[in-house]
Amino acid sequence: MKLAGRVSRISTSQTMAVNEKALQMRAQGVDLVDFGAGEPDFPTPENIKQAGIRAIQSNFTRYTSIGGTPDLRKAIVESHARLFGSSFDVAECLVNVGGKHAIFNTVSAVVDDGDDVMISTPYWVSFADIARYAGGQTVFAETHEADGFRLTAELVEKSLTSKTRMLIANSPSNPSGAVIDDAEFARIAALCRDRGVVLLSDECYSRFLYDGLKPFSLGAHREFRDTVVIAGSLSKTYAMTGWRIGYVLGPRDLVAAVQKIQSHSTSNPTSISQLAALEALTGPQDSVALMLSEYARRRDFVVERLNAIPGIQCTRPGGAFYAYPNIASAFSRGIKDSLDFSVQLLEKSHVAVVPGSAFGTSDHIRISYATSMEQLDKGLTRIAEFMRECNRKG
Ligand SMILES: Cc1ncc(COP(=O)(O)O)c(C=O)c1O
Repeated sequence: MKLAGRVSRISTSQTMAVNEKALQMRAQGVDLVDFGAGEPDFPTPENIKQAGIRAIQSNFTRYTSIGGTPDLRKAIVESHARLFGSSFDVAECLVNVGGKHAIFNTVSAVVDDGDDVMISTPYWVSFADIARYAGGQTVFAETHEADGFRLTAELVEKSLTSKTRMLIANSPSNPSGAVIDDAEFARIAALCRDRGVVLLSDECYSRFLYDGLKPFSLGAHREFRDTVVIAGSLSKTYAMTGWRIGYVLGPRDLVAAVQKIQSHSTSNPTSISQLAALEALTGPQDSVALMLSEYARRRDFVVERLNAIPGIQCTRPGGAFYAYPNIASAFSRGIKDSLDFSVQLLEKSHVAVVPGSAFGTSDHIRISYATSMEQLDKGLTRIAEFMRECNRKG
């Protein structure tokens, strides 16, 4: 069938090949260690699940307002204000079917054919494909490993073009765990405002910050209210990846445009998930702190173990639940690139990781530590053995 041209602008994720192979191996009963998953290994907290069950039992199963119920929008605005000191109005908030949907609709509402969309490398793969699908051209601001992959105002300034319409920033970052600190983020936002660039801040991992760093948001800076848009998600914060609830916080006219797009595509997010999300935001918050302390413990363990492996260096992630080690020393030893490394690691050592090439860098792999300490220990032991084998060949 002849397909629309816009489909050819996007690609199927490179990670699919590794995923497919991992699935096949698991089906064959192979004892696989999976460091590929980008989602919490914790179950959705009980109070949230019960709210979903109550929603079904009380027949809260019909269409809601397209942008989410007024109660949920109010809860999002209030919880964001409590956590980050923002002051959005309910009319500046809209609920979507997950954070990815929030980003997709926002980019669709802002980016025109031929506009440049700036993304920092390494990047979450969907940023680039969503921008291209909307007709934008991607421009990459390359961060430096030696600086912990942090995006800076200087890097943004260097990568701005006369056509830059949007910058998509993600702190803490998937895949590197890099955190842009509040002051630097404000410098980036000021630059964007002065150059008429919309800054889309993806706050998917904003609650998972380590080393005592307090969560912060550009939403707290009212001076950027006309040019900053926040894409949020309940997926990781509350271990709710399957429930599909995200949100947009931003200028009213943009929120109205996103609502218009949504009205002709998904309509409202699932009513049942909306009641569960309301409980997540207004009920007890201890599960978030528990998950954060467990991720922090795993982060320390993973980074220490990776850096003890000859030939691997890993920067210390400041947030999220990913480590992004450099494995390029293996390239001279029978391994072509990060994809080949990932395939061979899977085939020979039965550990699934995501190649850095999926995130726009060639020398790395992404390890998700959203898995048990036992699995981390087992997988890291196998990676060490795999590297020893590589070194023997070199
Ligand atoms: C950086 C980043 N942003 C957004 C999302 C979207 O998550 P969801 O659509 O589940 O809310 C993800 C999910 O992996 C992510 O890693």
